[in-house]
Amino acid sequence: MSRAFLVDPVRRRSGLATIREPARRCAHDVILDVLEVGICGTDREIVEFAFGEPPTGEDRLVLGHECLARVVGPAPDGTGLQDEQLAVPIVRDPCEAADCAPCRHDDQDFCLTGQFAEHGIRRAHGFLAERIVMPAARLVAVPDALRATAVLAEPLTVAEKVLRQLAAVAGRVPSTGAARPGAALVVGAGPIGLLAAMALVLRGWTVTVGARSVAPTPNARFAEALGARYVSTHELPLGVLAAETGGFELVLEAAGDATVALEATAGLRPNGILALTGLSLPGPPRAGFDLGEVIRRVVLGNQVLLGSVNAARADFEAAIADLLRAEERWPGLAEQLITSRYPLERSADAIHTSGGIKAVIEVQEAQAA
Ligand code: BGC
Repeated sequence: MSRAFLVDPVRRRSGLATIREPARRCAHDVILDVLEVGICGTDREIVEFAFGEPPTGEDRLVLGHECLARVVGPAPDGTGLQDEQLAVPIVRDPCEAADCAPCRHDDQDFCLTGQFAEHGIRRAHGFLAERIVMPAARLVAVPDALRATAVLAEPLTVAEKVLRQLAAVAGRVPSTGAARPGAALVVGAGPIGLLAAMALVLRGWTVTVGARSVAPTPNARFAEALGARYVSTHELPLGVLAAETGGFELVLEAAGDATVALEATAGLRPNGILALTGLSLPGPPRAGFDLGEVIRRVVLGNQVLLGSVNAARADFEAAIADLLRAEERWPGLAEQLITSRYPLERSADAIHTSGGIKAVIEVQEAQAA
């Protein structure tokens, strides 16, 4: 038997329960002990029954999609995974449509049908359980050196996918070609914003992180430790910041506020890219907000509004590589994003915690790397 955190959207209940231990269904399935699961806004929306869907024919969904796990027993031949290997599972499974080219070519993060499943989110059980089984093809191997930080790989993939697309988007201007690091503004200083800032600094971008809170906060300190500039948008509105700095080639929005995101186009240089990663709640635009002005700026500036969600294997691999580089450049820093740790029994507290940067549930007892 395995304990797991389950959400029942019909009876509107959630909590820990004991479920049957998952079994391997084919030779390529791998059994894993879950070590850690990170909590994000999506998990909170699921326990508030605003999002999420159990697998077809079931009442309950095992929560959890940010995960670090360890292979149990000898891994199947030819999978490249070893006994006791640390691994991070990929969140989205492809849809089954024969004509969905992205899903048929491991690009399920660009699924065309919307019929994909996402572990811990919709139609597939997640990872907030003592034991899970995953096909080897959906696992990304993690070196032991990242035992303390690899649970951050999944939220980091959000930035990695944007960075992967930047190269393709930059190619639209023949004379400038490949994306070169320039000035980037990250809007939002939660885990995704700060991890995005880290990935950008590692690639040589000059990074400003803009968020509401007035420094000093742990989030501002983290941004500054990376060598980024932190500004409070209360003290320095984005428009003023853009005028003062000369603007940004890239604005990466990770705040989940559509109005703030679109206003940030005021900070874009000609040909700039606004990458949107936050899931804004639907609702009317703020009074005084002029969408026509935003669109006019985007058109006259040849700018790109790029929405980006989920991530492919390549992004998970890039996240692991960046966490390794980050550890070399700023030893111990990435781990500081994890500001609270909870045992499995206190999963509900971890999900509802407010404050801090990232809450992590330690499913199995912590082990030295
Ligand atoms: C996850 C993504 C997922 C998205 C929408 C995010 O929290 O990180 O993998 O695609 O939610 O379901």
